[in-house]
Amino acid sequence: MLWENRIDSYVSKTGFPRSLFASEDGRVVGTWIMGNDYRVKSEYYGGYPAGYLKRMKALFPDKKRVLHLFSGKVDIGVFPGDTVDINPALKPTYVDDAQKLERVPLAKYDLVLADPPYSIEDCEHYGTSMVKRNTVMRALQRLPEGAHVVWLDQVLPMYRKDRFALEATIGMWKSTNHRFRGISIFRRADQQ
Ligand SMILES: C[S@@+](CC[C@H](N)C(=O)[O-])C[C@H]1O[C@@H](n2cnc3c(N)ncnc32)[C@H](O)[C@@H]1O
Repeated sequence: MLWENRIDSYVSKTGFPRSLFASEDGRVVGTWIMGNDYRVKSEYYGGYPAGYLKRMKALFPDKKRVLHLFSGKVDIGVFPGDTVDINPALKPTYVDDAQKLERVPLAKYDLVLADPPYSIEDCEHYGTSMVKRNTVMRALQRLPEGAHVVWLDQVLPMYRKDRFALEATIGMWKSTNHRFRGISIFRRADQQ
């Protein structure tokens, strides 16, 4: 599916203004202002703001084999998929460390929605240690070609340019006095 079709789907399915654009360097860029829709329905610390998954579902209507990585209490009613978290109490599909993903059959997924902890301070809320982002991205190289990774963070993770193409970046404002976040969207693509 072409990005222009993804953007059309986003506009028609959400009813939100067209805030994503193809730039001259071939990437898609944009900004989302979550407005009134900023609360976290599950009330889980660091959970996706309401509306985030609805927007993602509208951008990726073609994706049926979805993996929520660092899943927390993600609402799979909005965007169905399997889940991975290191905390077994959250009852994910796979209890695994995102830096290894040894129990996860990555070859069967065509979209990964990743929401890692952003800092050591955030990790204290989850009782986990800080993840090495580049190690997670390395594990995700086992995804099939054409799969997308949507990474929500305050940092652009280090990735291999011969394994992933950075296709889109979206800045996300939640509401006043909340941290700014960036969404990086990669496509798994081997380059010679
Ligand atoms: C920002 S929260 C995700 C919240 C989720 N998007 C939601 O809507 O509820 C980060 C999650 O990453 C998990 N986590 C932390 N370190 C991890 C690791 N190494 N591997 C897998 N999950 C990890 C935490 O247990 C926590 O649930």
